[in-house]
Amino acid sequence: MTKLDFDRHRRLRQSATMRRMVRETQLSQDDFIYPMFVKETGSEITEISSMPGVFQWPLHNVLEEVKEVVELGIPSIILFGLPAEKDAVGSSAFHDHGIVQEATRVIKEAYPDLTVIADTCLCQFTDHGHCGVIQDNDIVNDASLDILAQTAVSQAKAGADIIAPSNMMDGFVTAIRHGLDEAGFEHIPIMAYSVKYASAFYGPFRDAAHGAPSFGDRKTYQMDPANREEALREAQSDLNEGADFLIVKPALSYLDIIREVKDYSGVPLVAYNVSGEYAMVKAAALNGWINEREAVLEKLISMKRAGADLILTYHAKDAVKWMNEAT
Ligand code: PBG
Ligand code: ZN
Repeated sequence: MTKLDFDRHRRLRQSATMRRMVRETQLSQDDFIYPMFVKETGSEITEISSMPGVFQWPLHNVLEEVKEVVELGIPSIILFGLPAEKDAVGSSAFHDHGIVQEATRVIKEAYPDLTVIADTCLCQFTDHGHCGVIQDNDIVNDASLDILAQTAVSQAKAGADIIAPSNMMDGFVTAIRHGLDEAGFEHIPIMAYSVKYASAFYGPFRDAAHGAPSFGDRKTYQMDPANREEALREAQSDLNEGADFLIVKPALSYLDIIREVKDYSGVPLVAYNVSGEYAMVKAAALNGWINEREAVLEKLISMKRAGADLILTYHAKDAVKWMNEAT
């Protein structure tokens, strides 16, 4: 038989050990940031119906889950607060005894080595549910910046290791950096939600965090999903303003953006695998329509492959358990 001329790619796939040897991307527990919801009101641990396996934690139980996270070797959590009271300017976001501030104190006291990230936004704390303050039915950019900076400072005072502003106002990194520096927190990094799209995949989070806007939508501050070049402009501004990490959010429908922003910026890049992306896989798995373990590990490795250095994901605890079992 004449020898046909073609490449034999299958040579490197013939056994599990061979595949391990040529694997280009690895997942590690060090890649993960685990999101947690802490609530000021009520003493029950409440499961979020659209996010099975994710709970709202009262302060006095929060260490139960943090302990598990630490024991799995996950280096970091990000805290979202559900306050007892909301008002027009989100006062409970920057109160020294606000829920995020109190949870940070409790967690840092018990686990000083765990990196605690504070999400800095107003939508869970304002009665209108927008990420900035409102005048004449409009979200006003510059008036929101002071409040955001004040929020970041109160979180840093409570012991937060990283400030992660998610509000998408223009100039938020400058305002927060300035506020932190003035208050003596020059050493606290900013993990900026720089490239955050106005996405339908935040639906379950808005139930979880009671943060849906009471009127309108977030399209005047979050990005249009159709835009790619604008993502680079957003990233550039935040780098100029002093962001230490950049976040691209959501992750799955935006893997192209993760790659571009990573190549463009060269700073640690975080992919936010959002609530709707979690809920889709969970729902399919609970119906027996998909293999949850395989599907989750596949989507997480795809985010790493796309260029993410870190992955913020509700799957983090499960993923580490599965990775530890993997041969
Ligand atoms: C609020 C905020 C949102 C998420 C994180 N911070 C929702 C929103 O912008 O409406 C979404 C997270 C998720 O869906 O997992 N600033
Ligand atoms: Zn917000």
